[in-house]
Amino acid sequence: MPSPSHVSAGGTVLSPPPTAGDSGFVVSQKLHVLPATPALLAAHTLIRDRDASREVFTTQSRRVFRMLLETAVGLLPSEPKEVLTPAGHVFTGLVLTENVCAVSVVRAGESLESELWAVVPGVRVGKILIQRDKSTAQPRLYYSHLPPNMEHQHVLLLEPMLATGGSLLAALDVLASAGTPSSRVIAVNLLSSPPGLARVMEEHPDLTVVTSSVEQELDDNAFMVPGIGDFGDRYFGTDGGGS
Ligand code: PRP
Repeated sequence: MPSPSHVSAGGTVLSPPPTAGDSGFVVSQKLHVLPATPALLAAHTLIRDRDASREVFTTQSRRVFRMLLETAVGLLPSEPKEVLTPAGHVFTGLVLTENVCAVSVVRAGESLESELWAVVPGVRVGKILIQRDKSTAQPRLYYSHLPPNMEHQHVLLLEPMLATGGSLLAALDVLASAGTPSSRVIAVNLLSSPPGLARVMEEHPDLTVVTSSVEQELDDNAFMVPGIGDFGDRYFGTDGGGS
């Protein structure tokens, strides 16, 4: 994770984080890495532990998702809004001004949905089913079902893992075909790899990415280092371990 000194007050990375290395990392004002607060570091410590129970893994993952989603929603267009408090005083806050929907990259992206409902109640959620081939690491698109009027939507694209970037690129193709340019997409991501980020942001320089960690590298099996293992299997309990 980046040190706070690499993150502006708004959370925008101004220079490469120390863990990113030189393996194709793209410096961009569109990349937002969560500040390495004690709360984030504690959650990462728990979910990266290979011995974490499923309960700990899912609970702490959702803790980080809430941080990611709050940051992502804070990047959406908004305007000031005044309300009257019960004490009769004016409070000036803000309200979102544009249409917003979410799209989950199934299966792992669905794990963000429970926190999404809490942050943006009632938001519409589309689905794109993409699976990475276990031997080639190439993504395959099986299915998509999106909300109406995608050409007028800002999209929170829920994809926890950005390894080679192939799955995210495939999802962005689906959104573009539906009329949503990457300039109106915020990818909400738990872990990202430097080469995956470089690939995605080179093809989509207008895409915004919110992540909680830029990892050190990808290994020969297209897993991130130090990484978290197969997120989907650990979250949904299909990894064959534990109860
Ligand atoms: C994993 C992960 C991402 C994708 C990332 O999904 O959840 O969707 O791989 O890899 P990439 O950046 O190299 O494309 P997987 O296909 O294993 O499916 P899952 O969501 O069911 O775990």
